[in-house]
Amino acid sequence: MSTSSPAGRSGRCSRAEDAVATYPPLETARLILRPIELADAPAMQRLFPRWEIVQYLDTWVPWPYPDDGAERYLRDFLLPTIAKERWWSWSIRLKTAPEQLIGVIDLFDWTDDNRAFWLDPAYQGRGLISEAADAVTDYWFDVLKRPVLRAPKAVANAASIRISEKQGMRLIRTGDKEYRGGMMPSQLWEITREEWQARKR
Ligand SMILES: CC(C)(COP(=O)(O)OP(=O)(O)OC[C@H]1O[C@@H](n2cnc3c(N)ncnc32)[C@H](O)[C@@H]1OP(=O)(O)O)[C@@H](O)C(=O)NCCC(=O)NCCS
Repeated sequence: MSTSSPAGRSGRCSRAEDAVATYPPLETARLILRPIELADAPAMQRLFPRWEIVQYLDTWVPWPYPDDGAERYLRDFLLPTIAKERWWSWSIRLKTAPEQLIGVIDLFDWTDDNRAFWLDPAYQGRGLISEAADAVTDYWFDVLKRPVLRAPKAVANAASIRISEKQGMRLIRTGDKEYRGGMMPSQLWEITREEWQARKR
């Protein structure tokens, strides 16, 4: 992770409250993906800290999750990193209930790790993350113009791996990786911009 001080486009942004999203909301058939903001902290704090959600996420997710974990994450890390245009994060909302955050999906400029998502278990199993993942993958390739998207997945995280398969991603590496739930067999999945665009044609 970068340790340099956060700076917005104007070069003067140093507080999360000043970090204006420089990317748009996205829309899918059933979802609105809205740029994340500090006001999303209470909903994230309510939904995110569950073992079934965090076990296959990176070790930087604190566990046990502190009572102010979501607010600190947004204020001290995510919004400043978004302002540096190295991270893009959207809250996931149903079009039928746009006031309610039900998950989060992210893109980021990390080595071998460019996308993550989680969804409130009450809404899982309806194809919603598949829909959101297609929308942000379009954004990665069509708007951000990145040449390749990579995502590590714990082998045990069958739903997440299935989403990679459905998107036409290729398995390019296997090995053990440390996740929040411990050291686990892991896979690295990849798709290039040419492959993604060819699938859509
Ligand atoms: C990963 C996650 C977002 C998936 O949410 P979801 O609502 O199940 O996603 P979708 O419904 O869009 O798609 C899941 C796919 O996996 C399949 N699937 C789900 N559980 C599965 C399992 N145990 N074994 C095999 N396939 C499974 C579903 O059938 C579906 O595929 P299909 O469309 O071919 O039927 C959700 O499980 C989650 O929030 N997990 C915790 C956070 C996480 O691990 N994120 C990924 C790491 S970045």
